[in-house]
Amino acid sequence: MFHKRITFLIGPHVSEHFFKARDADMSQKEVYEFNVPTFGKGVVFDVDHLTRAEQFRFFADSLKSDRLRSYVGMMVKEAEDYFGKWGESGEVDLLDALSELIVLTASRCLLGREIRETLFSEVTTLVHDLDKGMVPLSVFFPYAPIEAHRKRDAARRDLAAIFDRVIQARREANAHEPDVLQTFIDARYRDGSRLTNDQVLGMLIAVLFAGQHTSSITSTWTGLLTIANKERVMPTLEGEQKKVMEKHGGKIDFDVLAEMDELHYAIKEALRMHPPLIMLLRQCHKPFKVTTSKGKEFVVPKGHIVATSPAFSHRLNNVFSDADTYKPSRFRQPSPEDKEKFASFIGFGGGRHGCMGETFAFMQIKTIWSILLRNFEFELVGKLPEPDYEGMVVGPKHPCTIRYKRRKL
Ligand code: HEM
Repeated sequence: MFHKRITFLIGPHVSEHFFKARDADMSQKEVYEFNVPTFGKGVVFDVDHLTRAEQFRFFADSLKSDRLRSYVGMMVKEAEDYFGKWGESGEVDLLDALSELIVLTASRCLLGREIRETLFSEVTTLVHDLDKGMVPLSVFFPYAPIEAHRKRDAARRDLAAIFDRVIQARREANAHEPDVLQTFIDARYRDGSRLTNDQVLGMLIAVLFAGQHTSSITSTWTGLLTIANKERVMPTLEGEQKKVMEKHGGKIDFDVLAEMDELHYAIKEALRMHPPLIMLLRQCHKPFKVTTSKGKEFVVPKGHIVATSPAFSHRLNNVFSDADTYKPSRFRQPSPEDKEKFASFIGFGGGRHGCMGETFAFMQIKTIWSILLRNFEFELVGKLPEPDYEGMVVGPKHPCTIRYKRRKL
């Protein structure tokens, strides 16, 4: 592609090295460096991999189970308030609605109380410009002088000014807020140094971008596929909600969500069929050998970009039987074959750089669908949408209209 050579490793037989290799042998920096103008200097893909590992340790601290428990409370509150505003019946574009809700939740859990309560619309507009500043051209020419990049850079500067004030105020007040922003403010490298205010913002943007579209798209596909296959799938999901409610009443928290296995499989299966990140990339720094399922050997040379594709791999019939059918029950008991193969399900990547937000994402999507299943019944308006391959993160094409009617399960 252009001047770069790309080797695709498709399917679990050949993709093990992609996920397990050391950063020195297969790195992300070169291929994901186009994010630097968006995330900012001194973080994630603008630093060596040892510094990045330390920065991700800061993020891991914000995802420990006691923290996740408190985020679930925030997720439930945001979702109940949001769906509480829906009428007795009506039509909504599911992708638009769930994207909006997920921005609200992310603001509360990640960006913090100040942003959610007083600066929300200003910050949302700037994040939107930042987001729109990442177009396919940006992957190859991130600094090309185009309008989208100009707006992106202006939004990044304005966000820096806003967060500078918020962070400074927290530092002066010696605050202890229960959000990811606070974890980054308090974080210390091994040598005792700290992130600058701009780097705190950079880390927040990176995390926000990793989780925003991926989660809203996956929650939307979960709904669309479940509704489109309602006779087969809905009774199981509603039955599970009833059972959980008999035991816990209306309460939803971290432990209650953990009991919703069927909902978990429904989400995982939506992600199998429609992973929002359709292509994962690395730069090869050390040649390696792969043997295909048919026993053919290839050497991938140093200098190649190496790619793997969750979207393509998840539709291999020799890995997932009946791969084009939405069948959440396939995950109830992974086949012994599945366990043997490394990374047959790669919707969250895997190995060394597997998604750090997986549990967070499941908690969020389960919260949304648990509340929706308990309070509404649904119908699809029109046909199931096709994936929109023009997006950087691939979701369903608009419209994603559904009809809802309020009822208590
Ligand atoms: C359904 C939602 C999500 C999907 C499908 C998803 C998918 C992925 C995938 C495929 C990767 C691996 C990328 C690669 O190997 O090149 C990844 C990495 C990552 N994800 Fe997610 N993600 C989701 C939600 C989230 C959320 C909510 C967060 C944060 C709260 C998050 C944070 C991260 C981070 C920090 C990494 C980088 C890990 C590393 O490089 O070591 N993700 N995600």
